[in-house]
Amino acid sequence: MVLNMRWQATACRDMASPFYGRLLDHVADDLLAGGPSADVLAGHEDDPGPSALALRLMGAVHRLVLDRRAPELATFYPSVGGTADARGSWAAFREVLVKQCAEIRPLLDTPPQTNEVGRAACLIGGLLHVTARWPGPLRLCEIGASAGLNLRADQFRLEPDGVGPAGSPVVLVDAWQGRRPPVDRPLQVVERRGCDVAPLDPCTTDGRLRLTSYVWPDQHARLERLRGALDLAARVPATVVRASARDFLRDLQLAPGTTTVVWHSITWQYLDLAERADVEARLRDLGEQAGPDARLAHLAMEPRRRTPGSDREVLVVLRIWPGGEERVLGTASAHGVPTTWE
Ligand SMILES: C[S@@+](CC[C@H](N)C(=O)[O-])C[C@H]1O[C@@H](n2cnc3c(N)ncnc32)[C@H](O)[C@@H]1O
Repeated sequence: MVLNMRWQATACRDMASPFYGRLLDHVADDLLAGGPSADVLAGHEDDPGPSALALRLMGAVHRLVLDRRAPELATFYPSVGGTADARGSWAAFREVLVKQCAEIRPLLDTPPQTNEVGRAACLIGGLLHVTARWPGPLRLCEIGASAGLNLRADQFRLEPDGVGPAGSPVVLVDAWQGRRPPVDRPLQVVERRGCDVAPLDPCTTDGRLRLTSYVWPDQHARLERLRGALDLAARVPATVVRASARDFLRDLQLAPGTTTVVWHSITWQYLDLAERADVEARLRDLGEQAGPDARLAHLAMEPRRRTPGSDREVLVVLRIWPGGEERVLGTASAHGVPTTWE
């Protein structure tokens, strides 16, 4: 567990959360000293690395903060207006571990789940490429949609590019670099639906709290984007069903007069090999059914290698049918902002 905390502390520092970096180092020291962290995490000693125990713990405590159940600690959490001071916050964090151990422990059983609104920077650009090729109605279908926030991507605003409705509660700032996607034809999304094996409802308090609790509290831009998208979700309906990617696609059909866009971001790695093969086969099958009136696009933002042996990059890749032509549109950071178009 100590190594897990140390590894995550470094990762948080590397990914622009110095606050969590320092707090997790305190947790690691406390574990070594047999302090309250050991009681809170008892029974998780053999949890596998990918279960992300450190992030479960931080998410659980953040949830208490967001829920106003840890008012003293909240004064250090920027997500609720506090001042990030990891050195000063450790005493308050430790106190929460001591006094609220029974509240934290059940929350550790839930895996971290996020819905990264910044990844819409890739989606919007990809949809603009599709619309440049085939102007007209788009059906947006997302696999691994989480809370479905990005099913509203056409309602987000990009600045300074001036794409999307002015006044949107979601503003993606400096989201695009490189050769900009074609922006002269507006997006026309007529259907928004997705699937997830563990969907979250962005219109419930629980769903909103869960999504927010796994965003690192000193990452203002991510939090702002998330909060804007949660507001939008209350106004723009979208459906996310509880289903695997395989089952969702099996039931998906093309529709005349539209382009069906199957989109996913940072989801492919969660599908086992058999499900990936089934999803691929179904996309090819739908592709064969596509024609000039009922078109298909597959848009993905996933870590991939361009060629065997090359480095992994988060690539934005578009395939379109009829034809099945595939094109790398650009690369992205893990959270989507910035996306660099080629
Ligand atoms: C890292 S999250 C990404 C969520 C969202 N695409 C985003 O970019 O914010 C991966 C999502 O895939 C979902 N997932 C995992 N396995 C899945 C499967 N077999 N079919 C559909 N969704 C799956 C998870 O529940 C989770 O919401």
